Amino acid sequence: MPDFKLHYEQRGSGRPLLLIHGFPFSGRMWRAQLEELSANNQLIIPDLPGFGKSPASPAPSVEQFATNCLAILEDLHISEKVILGGLSMGGYIALAAARLFPERLAALLLLSTRASADTAEGKAGRDATIAKVREGGPSVVAEGMYPKLLAPATYNDLPFVAGELKQVMGDATTEGVIGALTAMRDRQDSVPHLKNISVPTLIIHGQEDAVIPPSEAQVMADAVPGSKLHLVAKAGHLPPMEQPTEFNRIVSEFLRKM
Ligand code: MLT
Repeated sequence: MPDFKLHYEQRGSGRPLLLIHGFPFSGRMWRAQLEELSANNQLIIPDLPGFGKSPASPAPSVEQFATNCLAILEDLHISEKVILGGLSMGGYIALAAARLFPERLAALLLLSTRASADTAEGKAGRDATIAKVREGGPSVVAEGMYPKLLAPATYNDLPFVAGELKQVMGDATTEGVIGALTAMRDRQDSVPHLKNISVPTLIIHGQEDAVIPPSEAQVMADAVPGSKLHLVAKAGHLPPMEQPTEFNRIVSEFLRKM
Protein backbone atom coordinates (compact mmCIF):
# COMPACT_ATOMS: atom_id res chain seq x y z
CA MET A 1 0.00 0.00 0.00
CA PRO A 2 2.58 2.59 -1.01
CA ASP A 3 0.11 5.47 -1.33
CA PHE A 4 -1.80 4.86 1.88
CA LYS A 5 -1.14 7.72 4.31
CA LEU A 6 -2.70 8.68 7.60
CA HIS A 7 -3.83 12.19 8.37
CA TYR A 8 -1.98 13.62 11.38
CA GLU A 9 -1.50 16.80 13.37
CA GLN A 10 1.83 17.88 14.72
CA ARG A 11 2.87 20.55 17.13
CA GLY A 12 6.02 21.65 18.98
CA SER A 13 9.62 20.51 18.70
CA GLY A 14 11.94 18.22 20.62
CA ARG A 15 11.91 14.44 21.01
CA PRO A 16 9.04 13.01 18.93
CA LEU A 17 6.01 11.83 20.90
CA LEU A 18 3.37 9.99 18.85
CA LEU A 19 0.00 9.35 20.51
CA ILE A 20 -2.41 6.77 19.04
CA HIS A 21 -6.10 7.15 19.86
CA GLY A 22 -8.52 4.44 21.00
CA PHE A 23 -11.72 3.04 19.52
CA PRO A 24 -14.01 4.52 18.20
CA PHE A 25 -12.34 7.90 18.63
CA SER A 26 -9.98 10.09 16.56
CA GLY A 27 -6.91 12.20 17.16
CA ARG A 28 -9.26 14.81 18.55
CA MET A 29 -9.39 12.86 21.83
CA TRP A 30 -5.93 14.30 22.67
CA ARG A 31 -7.12 17.93 22.64
CA ALA A 32 -6.30 18.47 26.30
CA GLN A 33 -2.73 17.24 25.69
CA LEU A 34 -1.92 19.48 22.70
CA GLU A 35 -0.50 22.41 24.59
CA GLU A 36 1.25 20.80 27.51
CA LEU A 37 2.75 17.75 25.82
CA SER A 38 4.07 19.79 22.90
CA ALA A 39 5.93 22.21 25.20
CA ASN A 40 9.09 20.07 25.11
CA ASN A 41 8.29 17.47 22.46
CA GLN A 42 7.33 17.20 18.82
CA LEU A 43 3.81 15.91 19.37
CA ILE A 44 2.40 13.83 16.50
CA ILE A 45 -1.25 12.78 16.55
CA PRO A 46 -2.58 10.56 13.75
CA ASP A 47 -6.17 9.67 12.93
CA LEU A 48 -6.27 5.88 12.52
CA PRO A 49 -7.65 4.46 9.24
CA GLY A 50 -11.33 5.31 8.79
CA PHE A 51 -11.41 7.72 11.75
CA GLY A 52 -11.21 11.51 11.73
CA LYS A 53 -9.66 12.61 8.44
CA SER A 54 -7.85 9.37 7.48
CA PRO A 55 -9.03 7.04 4.71
CA ALA A 56 -10.11 3.52 5.68
CA SER A 57 -7.53 0.76 5.37
CA PRO A 58 -7.92 -1.94 2.72
CA ALA A 59 -6.07 -4.40 5.01
CA PRO A 60 -6.83 -3.63 8.66
CA SER A 61 -4.66 -5.24 11.35
CA VAL A 62 -2.89 -3.84 14.40
CA GLU A 63 0.42 -4.58 12.66
CA GLN A 64 -0.68 -2.62 9.59
CA PHE A 65 -1.88 0.29 11.75
CA ALA A 66 1.48 0.28 13.60
CA THR A 67 3.26 0.40 10.23
CA ASN A 68 1.00 3.27 9.06
CA CYS A 69 1.68 5.24 12.27
CA LEU A 70 5.46 4.83 12.07
CA ALA A 71 5.42 5.78 8.36
CA ILE A 72 4.47 9.28 9.54
CA LEU A 73 7.99 9.59 10.97
CA GLU A 74 9.44 8.98 7.51
CA ASP A 75 7.04 11.52 6.09
CA LEU A 76 8.42 14.04 8.59
CA HIS A 77 12.03 12.93 7.98
CA ILE A 78 12.42 11.94 11.62
CA SER A 79 15.17 9.38 12.12
CA GLU A 80 15.25 9.82 15.91
CA LYS A 81 13.58 7.18 18.08
CA VAL A 82 10.00 7.96 19.03
CA ILE A 83 8.15 7.95 22.33
CA LEU A 84 5.09 5.92 21.35
CA GLY A 85 1.87 6.10 23.32
CA GLY A 86 -1.44 4.39 22.70
CA LEU A 87 -4.76 4.34 24.48
CA SER A 88 -6.77 1.11 24.52
CA MET A 89 -6.84 0.02 20.83
CA GLY A 90 -3.97 2.50 20.39
CA GLY A 91 -2.14 0.48 23.05
CA TYR A 92 -2.69 -2.74 21.09
CA ILE A 93 -1.08 -0.96 18.14
CA ALA A 94 1.79 0.41 20.26
CA LEU A 95 2.46 -3.13 21.54
CA ALA A 96 2.50 -4.41 17.95
CA ALA A 97 5.01 -1.65 17.10
CA ALA A 98 7.16 -2.67 20.11
CA ARG A 99 7.20 -6.22 18.75
CA LEU A 100 7.83 -5.30 15.09
CA PHE A 101 9.99 -2.18 15.29
CA PRO A 102 11.75 -2.14 18.69
CA GLU A 103 14.67 -0.20 17.17
CA ARG A 104 12.32 2.78 16.42
CA LEU A 105 11.17 3.25 20.03
CA ALA A 106 12.63 5.47 22.76
CA ALA A 107 9.82 4.81 25.26
CA LEU A 108 6.33 3.36 25.48
CA LEU A 109 3.15 4.74 27.06
CA LEU A 110 0.50 2.04 27.60
CA LEU A 111 -2.73 3.83 28.42
CA SER A 112 -6.03 2.21 29.44
CA THR A 113 -5.01 -0.90 27.54
CA ARG A 114 -4.27 -4.60 27.89
CA ALA A 115 -1.67 -6.95 26.43
CA SER A 116 -3.86 -10.05 26.16
CA ALA A 117 -5.74 -11.02 22.99
CA ASP A 118 -9.54 -11.26 22.74
CA THR A 119 -11.08 -14.35 24.31
CA ALA A 120 -13.27 -16.61 22.10
CA GLU A 121 -16.29 -14.81 23.61
CA GLY A 122 -14.70 -11.43 22.89
CA LYS A 123 -14.08 -12.41 19.26
CA ALA A 124 -17.69 -13.52 18.88
CA GLY A 125 -18.76 -10.17 20.37
CA ARG A 126 -16.65 -8.33 17.75
CA ASP A 127 -18.37 -10.31 14.97
CA ALA A 128 -21.80 -9.51 16.38
CA THR A 129 -20.88 -5.83 16.57
CA ILE A 130 -19.56 -5.86 12.98
CA ALA A 131 -22.92 -7.27 11.83
CA LYS A 132 -24.77 -4.53 13.76
CA VAL A 133 -22.57 -1.79 12.28
CA ARG A 134 -23.19 -3.09 8.76
CA GLU A 135 -26.91 -2.71 9.43
CA GLY A 136 -27.03 0.45 11.53
CA GLY A 137 -23.80 2.37 10.91
CA PRO A 138 -21.07 3.45 13.34
CA SER A 139 -23.40 5.21 15.78
CA VAL A 140 -24.50 1.74 17.02
CA VAL A 141 -21.05 1.33 18.58
CA ALA A 142 -20.88 4.88 19.93
CA GLU A 143 -24.28 4.53 21.60
CA GLY A 144 -23.40 1.15 23.08
CA MET A 145 -20.05 2.29 24.46
CA TYR A 146 -20.94 5.80 25.65
CA PRO A 147 -22.40 4.82 29.07
CA LYS A 148 -19.29 2.75 29.95
CA LEU A 149 -16.50 5.07 28.86
CA LEU A 150 -16.32 7.65 31.64
CA ALA A 151 -16.23 7.38 35.43
CA PRO A 152 -19.82 7.69 36.73
CA ALA A 153 -19.13 11.11 38.28
CA THR A 154 -17.65 12.48 35.05
CA TYR A 155 -21.04 12.38 33.30
CA ASN A 156 -22.56 14.68 35.95
CA ASP A 157 -19.62 16.80 37.07
CA LEU A 158 -17.91 17.36 33.70
CA PRO A 159 -20.71 17.59 31.11
CA PHE A 160 -18.36 19.30 28.62
CA VAL A 161 -16.14 16.19 28.66
CA ALA A 162 -19.16 13.96 28.00
CA GLY A 163 -20.21 16.33 25.17
CA GLU A 164 -16.73 16.34 23.67
CA LEU A 165 -16.64 12.54 23.82
CA LYS A 166 -19.83 12.35 21.75
CA GLN A 167 -18.28 14.70 19.18
CA VAL A 168 -15.08 12.64 19.01
CA MET A 169 -17.05 9.42 18.43
CA GLY A 170 -19.07 11.20 15.74
CA ASP A 171 -15.91 11.26 13.54
CA ALA A 172 -16.04 7.45 13.00
CA THR A 173 -17.02 5.90 9.66
CA THR A 174 -18.62 2.49 9.01
CA GLU A 175 -15.52 1.22 7.21
CA GLY A 176 -13.23 2.53 9.93
CA VAL A 177 -15.24 0.94 12.72
CA ILE A 178 -15.47 -2.43 10.95
CA GLY A 179 -11.74 -2.32 10.11
CA ALA A 180 -10.80 -1.54 13.72
CA LEU A 181 -13.11 -4.25 15.11
CA THR A 182 -11.51 -6.74 12.70
CA ALA A 183 -7.99 -5.66 13.67
CA MET A 184 -8.77 -5.88 17.41
CA ARG A 185 -10.48 -9.27 17.02
CA ASP A 186 -7.50 -10.75 15.19
CA ARG A 187 -4.70 -9.23 17.27
CA GLN A 188 -2.24 -11.61 18.83
CA ASP A 189 -1.50 -12.02 22.52
CA SER A 190 1.26 -9.57 23.47
CA VAL A 191 1.66 -10.90 27.04
CA PRO A 192 4.58 -13.25 26.18
CA HIS A 193 6.39 -10.33 24.57
CA LEU A 194 6.12 -7.94 27.56
CA LYS A 195 9.29 -9.25 29.20
CA ASN A 196 11.26 -8.31 26.05
CA ILE A 197 10.32 -4.63 26.18
CA SER A 198 13.54 -2.83 27.01
CA VAL A 199 12.55 0.85 26.71
CA PRO A 200 11.22 3.00 29.60
CA THR A 201 7.52 2.17 29.88
CA LEU A 202 4.78 4.17 31.56
CA ILE A 203 1.42 2.53 32.23
CA ILE A 204 -1.59 4.72 33.08
CA HIS A 205 -5.08 3.44 33.85
CA GLY A 206 -8.26 4.96 35.24
CA GLN A 207 -9.23 3.53 38.62
CA GLU A 208 -12.84 3.31 37.44
CA ASP A 209 -12.24 1.91 33.95
CA ALA A 210 -15.31 -0.22 33.09
CA VAL A 211 -14.04 -1.17 29.60
CA ILE A 212 -10.64 -2.64 30.54
CA PRO A 213 -10.19 -3.41 34.25
CA PRO A 214 -7.17 -1.92 36.09
CA SER A 215 -6.00 -5.50 36.78
CA GLU A 216 -4.88 -5.61 33.12
CA ALA A 217 -2.58 -2.65 33.77
CA GLN A 218 -1.11 -4.55 36.71
CA VAL A 219 -0.42 -7.58 34.46
CA MET A 220 1.63 -5.33 32.15
CA ALA A 221 3.36 -3.56 35.05
CA ASP A 222 4.39 -6.90 36.55
CA ALA A 223 5.81 -8.14 33.23
CA VAL A 224 7.51 -5.12 31.60
CA PRO A 225 10.93 -4.71 33.21
CA GLY A 226 11.26 -1.42 35.11
CA SER A 227 7.84 -0.11 34.08
CA LYS A 228 5.94 2.49 36.11
CA LEU A 229 2.21 2.17 36.80
CA HIS A 230 -0.12 5.05 37.74
CA LEU A 231 -3.79 4.56 38.53
CA VAL A 232 -5.73 7.78 38.04
CA ALA A 233 -8.53 8.55 40.52
CA LYS A 234 -11.93 9.75 39.26
CA ALA A 235 -11.18 8.47 35.75
CA GLY A 236 -12.82 5.73 33.71
CA HIS A 237 -11.50 4.56 30.32
CA LEU A 238 -10.33 8.02 29.22
CA PRO A 239 -7.94 9.65 31.74
CA PRO A 240 -6.51 12.08 29.11
CA MET A 241 -10.01 13.57 28.66
CA GLU A 242 -11.43 13.08 32.17
CA GLN A 243 -8.41 14.08 34.28
CA PRO A 244 -6.17 15.94 31.82
CA THR A 245 -4.22 17.91 34.44
CA GLU A 246 -3.22 14.77 36.33
CA PHE A 247 -2.64 12.80 33.12
CA ASN A 248 -0.42 15.51 31.63
CA ARG A 249 1.49 15.84 34.90
CA ILE A 250 2.25 12.09 35.04
CA VAL A 251 3.36 11.97 31.40
CA SER A 252 5.44 15.17 31.63
CA GLU A 253 7.23 13.95 34.74
CA PHE A 254 7.98 10.58 33.08
CA LEU A 255 9.34 12.34 29.99
CA ARG A 256 11.47 14.69 32.07
CA LYS A 257 13.08 11.80 33.93
CA MET A 258 13.71 9.63 30.86
C1 MLT B 1 -10.86 1.09 22.88
O1 MLT B 1 -11.22 1.91 23.73
O2 MLT B 1 -9.94 1.33 22.09
C2 MLT B 1 -11.62 -0.20 22.77
O3 MLT B 1 -12.73 -0.19 23.60
C3 MLT B 1 -10.78 -1.38 23.09
C4 MLT B 1 -11.46 -2.68 22.84
O4 MLT B 1 -12.61 -2.71 22.38
O5 MLT B 1 -10.83 -3.72 23.09
